[in-house]
Amino acid sequence: MIYFLASVAAIAGFLFGYDEGIIAVARPLLDKDFPMDPLVGGFMTAAVPLGALVAASIAGRITDRFGRRRSLMAAAVLFTAGSLLAASITAIWMLIVARLILGLAIGLAAVTAPLYISETAPLRIRGALVSTYQLAITVGILASYLTGLAIDVEGDGLLNDDGMWRLMFALGALPGVLFLAGLAVLPESPRWLILKGLAPAARTSLQRLRGPAAPIDREFEEITTTARAEAGKKSGYRALLEPAIRPAVIVGAGLFFLQQLSGINAVIYYAPEIFNHAGFDSTGTQILATIGIGTVNVVTTILAMYLIDKIGRRPLLVLGFLGTAVTMLTIAVAVVNPTLVPAWVIIVALMLYIASFAISIGPLPHVLMSEIFPLRARGPGMSMASISNWGFNFVVVFTFPLMLAGPGLAFTFTLFAVICLGGIIFTLTRVPETTGHSLEAIEEHLNSGRAFVLLRRETHVTTTVVVRRK
Ligand code: BGC
Repeated sequence: MIYFLASVAAIAGFLFGYDEGIIAVARPLLDKDFPMDPLVGGFMTAAVPLGALVAASIAGRITDRFGRRRSLMAAAVLFTAGSLLAASITAIWMLIVARLILGLAIGLAAVTAPLYISETAPLRIRGALVSTYQLAITVGILASYLTGLAIDVEGDGLLNDDGMWRLMFALGALPGVLFLAGLAVLPESPRWLILKGLAPAARTSLQRLRGPAAPIDREFEEITTTARAEAGKKSGYRALLEPAIRPAVIVGAGLFFLQQLSGINAVIYYAPEIFNHAGFDSTGTQILATIGIGTVNVVTTILAMYLIDKIGRRPLLVLGFLGTAVTMLTIAVAVVNPTLVPAWVIIVALMLYIASFAISIGPLPHVLMSEIFPLRARGPGMSMASISNWGFNFVVVFTFPLMLAGPGLAFTFTLFAVICLGGIIFTLTRVPETTGHSLEAIEEHLNSGRAFVLLRRETHVTTTVVVRRK
């Protein structure tokens, strides 16, 4: 059941990636039917991150009030409606509205899906399961790139046909419907049910999740004990201002700041242009290299899922930040000295950059943000982290073309590298090791007043708050 749940919740990630990437490949065809000036075109593109930003900021409240499952169902309806509207527009303002709706769906789901998986997953494989969400994002991005290859921007692709962009948008409705159907048969998060005082329903839900014969007494007791201890304390957004919870807010928002300022979406959105700047001017090479990037992203994320619960969050983060810093610097040096460094070095470095990102900085902020907040502030805390995600996503995507035209590629990549090095310091001084800890044990540590970063790996996975208190 839990694998089915994680797969259904991850459909939201696929749509996140697909809707992020599809506009780049649909745009040339769309322009034939609806020519847009740069301002309208920019607004139409930015409508998705904008909608996501708005939804992420209220998603915490929505998901705490209506439940994880119903919030995701609302997102599924928005995904489907947005895709169908985008496919059937008769004027460009309708596409802007459609993309705003898609953005709202993405923002709501980006907070709720990892939260839902994390609250229902067994401790042993929680990191791996939450990472399926990131895996789905990368598959969605790759799917949109492949659609681009099929139609080929140059006009001689397999599916080249006028109005094909309508099909590309309409395809997004299919996963939307599957998402809704899957959610209809899934149970609500037992932790949310406890938050609402619905203990019998929470027990039934936990039993369904773990299987009819599985022993659930200890896990259930741990969840209820922690919820009881927290009852009466501030909840919702106000709780985020408490000194005890602040370290979690800093880790959640800080990791997404670093994730975005590592430059990932400069590469994801503008890969062909980067290759062009680096001297590869054939469109064929650019498209193939871009698909290479999408593939490395997917494959390394699978590896990350295997490693996250084994190696631990902190070592992987350090490795990722180091790898992205070194590869960004390598590209900067290669671009400045084209005669000394052969051009293939740039392609290899960019692939290694993506691998370093995907093994670490890609999935881990999503995993950690779903683990570090106490139950009473989990929804709002994840909202804060997602605002940071979408806000800085927008900043990077919007400023990157200006940076390329101004200070240039080498300067911009050096800046990204410096920020990645800062990520190592941030990890070592701020990020707790959540591997092997139940959500309740993490919460107990946060409340204990000891520095958050001092939470260290728990190797005896069966240890729980309840057991330790005896
Ligand atoms: C980020 C996205 C990014 C994607 C790339 C995600 O974790 O939040 O902004 O496009 O990774 O794989």
